[in-house]
Amino acid sequence: MKYLLGIDLGTSGTRSVLFNPDGEVIAAKSAEYPLSQPQNGWAEQDPQDWWEAAIATISHVVRQSGVDPRQIAALGISGQMHGLVMLDEKGQVLRPSIIWADQRTGEECEDITRLVGKERLIEITANPALTGFTASKIMWVKKHQPDIYKITRHILLPKDYLRYKLTGDFATEVSDASGMQLLDVPGRQWSQEVLDKLGIARELFARVYESPEVTGHVSEEASRLTGLSQSTLVVGGAGDNAAAAVGTGTVRDGRAFTTVGTSGVIFAHSSRIAIDPKGRVHTFCCAVPGAWHVMGVMQSAGLSKRWIRDTLCQAEIAQAEKLGIDSYDLVDALAAKSPVGSNRLIYLPYLMGERTPHLDPDCRGVFFGLSAMHQRGDLIRAVMEGVSFGLRDSLEILDGMGVKADKMLLTGGGAKSAFWRQLLADVYARPLSLINSPEGPALGVAILAGVGAGVYQSVESACDALVQPGDAIRPDTSKAAVYQRFHRLYQQLYPALKQSWQELARL
Ligand code: XUL
Repeated sequence: MKYLLGIDLGTSGTRSVLFNPDGEVIAAKSAEYPLSQPQNGWAEQDPQDWWEAAIATISHVVRQSGVDPRQIAALGISGQMHGLVMLDEKGQVLRPSIIWADQRTGEECEDITRLVGKERLIEITANPALTGFTASKIMWVKKHQPDIYKITRHILLPKDYLRYKLTGDFATEVSDASGMQLLDVPGRQWSQEVLDKLGIARELFARVYESPEVTGHVSEEASRLTGLSQSTLVVGGAGDNAAAAVGTGTVRDGRAFTTVGTSGVIFAHSSRIAIDPKGRVHTFCCAVPGAWHVMGVMQSAGLSKRWIRDTLCQAEIAQAEKLGIDSYDLVDALAAKSPVGSNRLIYLPYLMGERTPHLDPDCRGVFFGLSAMHQRGDLIRAVMEGVSFGLRDSLEILDGMGVKADKMLLTGGGAKSAFWRQLLADVYARPLSLINSPEGPALGVAILAGVGAGVYQSVESACDALVQPGDAIRPDTSKAAVYQRFHRLYQQLYPALKQSWQELARL
């Protein structure tokens, strides 16, 4: 039997999962690591922590499974995107990794837009300059830490650093490289034009593979540290969202998923390149060779609900603890007492600024229409409705680009709430399906590994065989019609407040 290993290098921790060829979990293990925030808006991690978490989880999984390591045909790595890892000529890490959540590079984004040109940048990299993306982080180090930049010989993404530690090879793949803002996304290769205009040397970057391609095999040292066999192949892998797409079968036109995690994601597969000229949604190469995905990212989705729970629902948190139940169940029960439209209360979910559709670091959350009659349930329901309206904004942009999202899956912690699931189907006015396997990204890269090792013929056929959608949630058409009117009003509020938020930021 040939087994496949999926490793997901996330922001809070790393998870390693061993699958059999039917996609069933044989063994799994997670390990956490810290996030350091040396200044307001900064976010860094130590690549050594990632490596130690990988060694701990892989060796545990190999031992616990009892599988002969030589039967693990291949492994794939999924990773948090955009993080900057800089190595010297000996392959030593030069500074902590500046990760995706770091927002220090506003000035560098302006520099990039000026040097490449706003429209040209979107044409080539399929995205406007973003503080979260890697290029602006490289420019920051170049400007603020020139001594480090001068001795940098290799620039890698987080999961590609893990590959380097596991194999000794420098390599990356199209889906994750798309988030560096240095890739020619339509052409699926480094953009010499962007690199030249930013004054960054091409030699710093690794060869770009397609996601299921084999990039190497486990090295002697990594074999000793993890218990893996040197015969285990390592494939390109994927950025976390592209990996989740494979793990949920979102690999054909018309397929899409919504993730309600701390942030919110609307992701749709596209076999043709589709770029929003206004740069409101991200277009990245996807893990299916020769295809792309379009993705809207909302900064504060589940975060909004956690915020309202923590601010207004201390009694429910205490009661849930006593009863041994999830506090969100009690929070949902309060929201369910409020009618559709929350008694004419609208919430704007911009607690941490916004990416899609506004790309605005200055906007902030709003309750619009507050009245003395409003109760906690109205506020909570308005928060869930407002987040759902924001996600629908992304969906409308995709519709406008001709990117179909008819088969929409629902994932993430927010999807555990039956109340929110129905509310989302009503706001989207389209059916949603749940997902059977909880191992999205790890399963996704294990499938890519299986394609690379010849266990499966293609990513699509493997997904057809291994990934089945779960229960469907149908929209209530009468509620959907009311939500549509509220959503129109919601959409008028951002432009009306844009100037005022900028003034607020300057106060
Ligand atoms: C994608 C993005 C996140 C990170 C962290 O653009 O910023 O999904 O990959 O998970």
